[in-house]
Amino acid sequence: MPKLLKISLYFYCALFASALQADTELDPPEILLGERLFLETRFAQYFKKHLDQGGSMNRAITKGDPALTKTTRFFGLPPYQIPFADGPYAGKTYNCRVCHLVDEHVEQQELGMRSYSDFASRSPLPTRDDGQTTTVRNAPALVDASLPRENFILHSDGEFSSLAQLVRGTLTNRNFGWLPGEKSAAIEHICKVVQADHGTSELATEFGAISYSEAFSGTTQKNKPIADDYLIPKALRLDIQKASCDEVFAAVANLIAIYTEDLVFTEDESALSPYDLFLEINYLPKTPAKNESHLAYSQRLLGFIQNLKKNNKLQFVTKNPNTKDGAFRFHARPFQFGAQQLAGMEIFFNQAQHDKTAKGNCIACHAAPHFTDFGLHNSGITQVEYDAIHGSGTFNKLSIPNLSARNQHPDRYLPATHQHPERTNLFRAIPSEANPTTVDLGAWNVFHNDDYPNSQERIQNLICNNSNPPCQSDDHALKRSIATFKTPGLRNLGHSAPYMHNGKISDLHAVMSFYISTSANARSGSVRNADTEITNIMLTPNDIQPLVRFLESLYEDYN
Ligand code: HEC
Ligand code: HEC
Repeated sequence: MPKLLKISLYFYCALFASALQADTELDPPEILLGERLFLETRFAQYFKKHLDQGGSMNRAITKGDPALTKTTRFFGLPPYQIPFADGPYAGKTYNCRVCHLVDEHVEQQELGMRSYSDFASRSPLPTRDDGQTTTVRNAPALVDASLPRENFILHSDGEFSSLAQLVRGTLTNRNFGWLPGEKSAAIEHICKVVQADHGTSELATEFGAISYSEAFSGTTQKNKPIADDYLIPKALRLDIQKASCDEVFAAVANLIAIYTEDLVFTEDESALSPYDLFLEINYLPKTPAKNESHLAYSQRLLGFIQNLKKNNKLQFVTKNPNTKDGAFRFHARPFQFGAQQLAGMEIFFNQAQHDKTAKGNCIACHAAPHFTDFGLHNSGITQVEYDAIHGSGTFNKLSIPNLSARNQHPDRYLPATHQHPERTNLFRAIPSEANPTTVDLGAWNVFHNDDYPNSQERIQNLICNNSNPPCQSDDHALKRSIATFKTPGLRNLGHSAPYMHNGKISDLHAVMSFYISTSANARSGSVRNADTEITNIMLTPNDIQPLVRFLESLYEDYN
């Protein structure tokens, strides 16, 4: 399923007209319509303002959102991010791709390819006068984000429990310029854009030059069927001129969700990582057996590898079979799984309780084959950012209300939502010098919060059903959720820096140094609410290089 191939070709098609398109095998119609909606730049609040000021729905906007003029890039040092290159959506308004980029900057040395993330620590937000200029969190890669699993949650704090819900939430939240309380205005605007679309925009011409009415209903204005390439399945069709705005909005969100869900690449033969190729040439199992947990599979895999190594039977990967020169196409690294990567893999997978070898214990949370348990854990990174601003030990002393205190003053402590626009976001905020009470406590914001009913049972399971001691009460469970964030997958990290929910770590060596210090601090009891599995990491600086080499062997190489 080389979806990225097609996506990048569309992008180039837009640039060089359509010579390539004829040779490209198209995605299914519902994926194409989902992609078009993912790329649609008129859903943003800024575009509504443009219409309110007399702008035209079917003509390009004259003055785009100033927040899109440049693409922002992270740096390891303050101010941590700066406007860097000309923005691919300059002169327009926000769409999903603005923060989830792919090949927009592929030709630029210091930027390059992305796996649906951006280059910022925290993404610039659409212009509003509420004082917020960036997202609270780092935009993660979307490739593999929606793989099926138990206790499915999305966003690093578990805010959403399905992809359709996430899309509905995102299209009506600050990412598209909408403030808490503006949900109906957002839905009405999006509905109007879709209903009034003529199919004449630059974007529409890349998708068959049909209007949204035609795309959703499957028939032209003259009641003829539209071309098969764009004819979505009956079950997804809707007469958007007759439907209610809620129905239109749900249909739009559903198609974007279908497109996003399809962004799964790891089993793609032409983009195989050195690691997957290594498993293949050594006839090692690439996925867990039926009913086997990912952790048990990872442990079994390590056993096989150690056995082969002992008997000198391991085959190494020295070049990419899919390129002439044997190199990666989209990463400036050797395509390799050799002795160094193997050493790193052994550290990554090692959980031995009583030996003196380097112990990464990484698979406790990052089990193969996806290198994540999709669980919620506190690695200690929130504390690092907070203490760097307010002084060592300050996060430990920060006053965080217990469940009953929080329930007494929800407006003071919980995040603002459409139901409760007056709330403060105190604990879902970027820490700042100016305000020592703001910090991002991750899942704590969502857990036991009635504004997120669908996430409750899942978060409860993820916080209380892991290897840590069991939760004794709701209050204890809430305390255990402090500064917990969803474990990210580790495939293709070369296209998603900077790292962690706060985008505070700019490269993989630095992530490894972070694990060395956070695990030592967790053992000495100075990391507030540290995950016990963090205390089980035993590494020295000598382990950094092999671990990084191993993580680089998980890079995939989309054609
Ligand atoms: C202004 C930037 C911005 C825009 C626009 C944006 N996103 Fe995001 N996206 C983010 C950030 C930041 C996160 C991380 C949020 C978190 O973890 O709390 C995120 C998270 C996600 C996730 C969750 C991934 C995971 O593993 O949990 C998905 C899926 C997603 N976005 C899809 C979309 C879609 C679809 C759209 C368009 C409807 C969109 N995004 C628009 C910034 C953006
Ligand atoms: C207790 C569970 C746990 C263990 C053990 C663990 N991690 Fe993580 N890892 C996480 C979580 C959770 C995050 C995200 C933290 C955040 O953003 O707040 C993360 C983030 C990362 C990231 C950044 C990825 C990104 O896209 O931002 C890398 C790289 C990483 N871990 C590698 C490792 C390695 C290597 C090891 C072993 C030395 C390891 N992890 C051990 C839970 C764990």
